[in-house]
Amino acid sequence: SARPVTITITGAGGQIGYALLFRIASGAILGPDVPVRLNLLEIPQGLRAAEGAALELQDAAFPLLRQVEVYDDATKAFSGANLALLVGARPRTAGMERGDLLAANGGIFGPQGAAINAGAADDVRVVVVGNPANTNALIAASHAPDVPAGRFTALTRLDHNRALGQLAATLGSTVGSLRDVTIWGNHSATQFPDVSHATIDGESVPNLLSARLGGADAAREWLVDSFIPRVAKRGAEIIEVRGSSSVASAASAAIDHMRDWVQGTQHGWTSAAVVSDGSYGVPEGLVSSFPVESVEGEWRIVQGLDLSAFAEHRIAASVGELAEERDAVRELGLI
Ligand code: NAI
Repeated sequence: SARPVTITITGAGGQIGYALLFRIASGAILGPDVPVRLNLLEIPQGLRAAEGAALELQDAAFPLLRQVEVYDDATKAFSGANLALLVGARPRTAGMERGDLLAANGGIFGPQGAAINAGAADDVRVVVVGNPANTNALIAASHAPDVPAGRFTALTRLDHNRALGQLAATLGSTVGSLRDVTIWGNHSATQFPDVSHATIDGESVPNLLSARLGGADAAREWLVDSFIPRVAKRGAEIIEVRGSSSVASAASAAIDHMRDWVQGTQHGWTSAAVVSDGSYGVPEGLVSSFPVESVEGEWRIVQGLDLSAFAEHRIAASVGELAEERDAVRELGLI
């Protein structure tokens, strides 16, 4: 039978942690044949919550779950990790400037990157969920010089999935029939959800939107005034309606990201924030969302897509924000 895979989850005592653990233990990332060991990392205030979740994991009697350990020491928690989901982060609180936020997260993701560098498995793959996710991933990667840069990613799959949900609802289709939607840039309000290459059963989504909404102008208006802002600001909408932030959908997206990374993408591309190699003019080294396929366990940026002037403008705006965040953390000595 397959060897157990060690999965480290930070912030495991928090809300997303609680939604993640049970699905991972049931085999949602690696499939029904691969046993898992879970290492839960928390800060002292979160330890009891993580220990409580560990008790419940035992009570759920998942056949694939071989071991659960709870730590407040990053070096121990990342030791031997094959997969790492970095969820715990310092949230922005009232009166906090961006510099304070980046500095507080640098204090988390720098040491975690170093711990991954020191003790994770050779095949370690990391997704950062905790915000500001792209820049936190950049900080972690910069503290892990011995780990290939391609192993550090940030989550934009939730934004991608939100885009699929909006398109399916508007076109009366199913999310499973949609192909080749892209989220570009930062996991923030500046992100660019792009449907220009998207299809349903081989038909272009822009054409389907024109047919549905009464012409190309109406379709363009819907994309710019409704779709893009709704996807980009969906987190705020969820808080407004639910009274609490996106949790289960975020956990589900993190699982989709890891499952596709390990098992491969099958039907066209998806979106993930990966370290840029300079593709599409995104400065090398920035952790930016791209159209990606997972082949043989590696994310590959889909090449050769034509971009409209509008798309180039929107991508440049979001990438500009990422470059500013990088400059800020560089100035703070965090990378
Ligand atoms: P939460 O506050 O319920 O849980 C966070 C947990 O992280 C807490 O238990 C806290 O004790 C722990 N933590 C803090 N610092 C830590 C450290 N240094 N090491 C280990 N654990 C640490 O928050 P929730 O709802 O689970 O969200 C977690 C993060 O995910 C937030 O930063 C949130 O903004 C982000 N997020 C990202 C999304 C994305 O699409 N990329 C979507 C939704 C949320």
